[in-house]
Amino acid sequence: EEELNQWRERIKRLLKEQNAVLVAHYYTDPLIQALAEETGGCVSDSLEMARFGAQHEADTLIVAGVKFMGETAKILTPHKRVLMPTLEATCSLDLGCPIDEFSAFCDQHPDRTVVVYANTSAAVKARADWVVTSSIALDVVDYLDSQGEKILWAPDKHLGSYVQKQTGADVLLWDAACIVHEEFKAKGVADLKAMYPEALVLVHPESPAAVVELADVVGSTSQIINAAKTHPNKQFIVATDQGIFYKMQQQCPDKELIIAPTAGSGATCRSCANCPWMAMNSLENLCGVLERGDNEILVDEALGKRAMMPLQRMLDFRK
Ligand code: 13P
Ligand code: SF4
Repeated sequence: EEELNQWRERIKRLLKEQNAVLVAHYYTDPLIQALAEETGGCVSDSLEMARFGAQHEADTLIVAGVKFMGETAKILTPHKRVLMPTLEATCSLDLGCPIDEFSAFCDQHPDRTVVVYANTSAAVKARADWVVTSSIALDVVDYLDSQGEKILWAPDKHLGSYVQKQTGADVLLWDAACIVHEEFKAKGVADLKAMYPEALVLVHPESPAAVVELADVVGSTSQIINAAKTHPNKQFIVATDQGIFYKMQQQCPDKELIIAPTAGSGATCRSCANCPWMAMNSLENLCGVLERGDNEILVDEALGKRAMMPLQRMLDFRK
């Protein structure tokens, strides 16, 4: 506790000295989320993280999350210094979509509008017409479908097939998945629902189709929190990373939040889904990066300019 306090105080002082602001994702350690709130930074889903970083006047953005979030911040504000507590924090979707293969796939389907999930490298974004996050994917694809466009979607096949089903658009899917959400199984969620028949089921769309089918609400991390907050129901079964419970419980102190089990865990598991890359962020390495100024995110200038177009299109689509 003593040590944690020292890091907290050091981080607060360094943020001020360096005119830096902390931008954290809901899946990071609650200690980081609390500090981001306390110091005027933001805690949010990946779309709002991008928006916050792009609009904030700080010289330095400290992005606590995974690599694509830091890269997105750098692409949107190339003049800012973007640091991350660790450069090792990647994402299975990013890893599952290497640029050379992806580019070849796009070349084979020149008639399709290329829509990529934000969980991708800067190079993949630079090859896309649109970038979307889970909170905006449905609306963007619905719009493109209304314009008569056929879609090439990458990398998350689960989110892609959910979007395809909901919109009825012509969507060609890349084959990759989130290793964290893929662990949710329909049987586990259904068994839990049998134990808590009154509970509403909230699911992140990176989960498999059979789990999404059991959901009362499907949405991004922010949308899941918002659903729990605004819905009169008192009990919720939640299928996403456990990091979300910090903010969710804070926003809904009188509600019972039950984490959905992943394969291999019991039906009452309270700490299962946990992204190994998000978990690499700690107060210690956050403090270290502010002290040393290393772990800077750099994106090739020409590539960044190209990647900015589909990203900006996303931000402009819903102001
Ligand atoms: P959100 O956009 O819902 O925050 O999702 C990002 C992510 O990586 C989920 O696994
Ligand atoms: Fe990627 Fe899944 Fe981790 Fe999100 S939870 S960062 S999609 S591996």
